[in-house]
Amino acid sequence: MEKYNPKIILSAAISIDGKIATRSGDSKLSSKKDLSRLHKLRSQVDAILIGKNTVHKDDPLLTVRYSKGRNPIRIVLDSCGTISNKSKILQTSNKVRTIIVVSKKITKKNLQKLKKFPIEILIIGENQVNIKSLIKILSKRKIKTILLEGGGTINWEFIKNNLVDEFFITITPFILGGENAISLVQGEGFDKITKSHKLRLNRIKRLENDLFLCYSKL
Ligand SMILES: NC(=O)c1ccc[n+]([C@@H]2O[C@H](COP(=O)([O-])OP(=O)(O)OC[C@H]3O[C@@H](n4cnc5c(N)ncnc54)[C@H](OP(=O)(O)O)[C@@H]3O)[C@@H](O)[C@H]2O)c1
Repeated sequence: MEKYNPKIILSAAISIDGKIATRSGDSKLSSKKDLSRLHKLRSQVDAILIGKNTVHKDDPLLTVRYSKGRNPIRIVLDSCGTISNKSKILQTSNKVRTIIVVSKKITKKNLQKLKKFPIEILIIGENQVNIKSLIKILSKRKIKTILLEGGGTINWEFIKNNLVDEFFITITPFILGGENAISLVQGEGFDKITKSHKLRLNRIKRLENDLFLCYSKL
């Protein structure tokens, strides 16, 4: 039987203490070697998905630059359509296929702003983007692999809904601390360890001072 659900890989570079950014939002944790690995992976997936705070904080391009290969579709979850006109993602949307997913809460003004760019706008969900409905739509479009590149809030939404198949985590040689520094997974979290999905360690690789770990669902 054909499997419709796309495979979802959560990818992140974390500090030893599990943070994905400092308290001020500095997230440049990756080494050059790890970036080449990540960009090769990007070239092998159909889409990359991130949350709107990551766009605001990092202003990423989400393209393949440190490796050869094609760019995947970029998907941003932004319920109110607040992404900046000046963001690299919108500014390069004539070159790289881009989908901005909003909810019905978006204002007319923000919708008009988005319509000026050559992007696809998906309106899914009442107050916030409905992740399960989005995945169904992407699945119907034959998107088979999605690289989830955070941040912590979006990671929790996918983990809570048991949507992540694999976790590709690079532990980098930094300790960042800070109660307000974003962790790999934010949100409410599970109250019992038994509620967390049990994972299997499939691969482990040392990249100089980094440690790359690959876990999958049991
Ligand atoms: N080290 C790394 O590998 C790495 C990777 C990525 C990000 N980061 C860091 O992570 C930080 C951002 O993380 P974050 O947790 O603040 O934000 P985030 O996960 O990037 O974005 C969260 C936002 O997404 C929107 N969203 C849309 N639909 C949603 C849904 N169904 N559920 C939840 N959120 C939804 C929400 O805003 P609306 O309600 O307005 O839509 C929410 O506030 C940045 O500092 C960035 O540098 C690090």
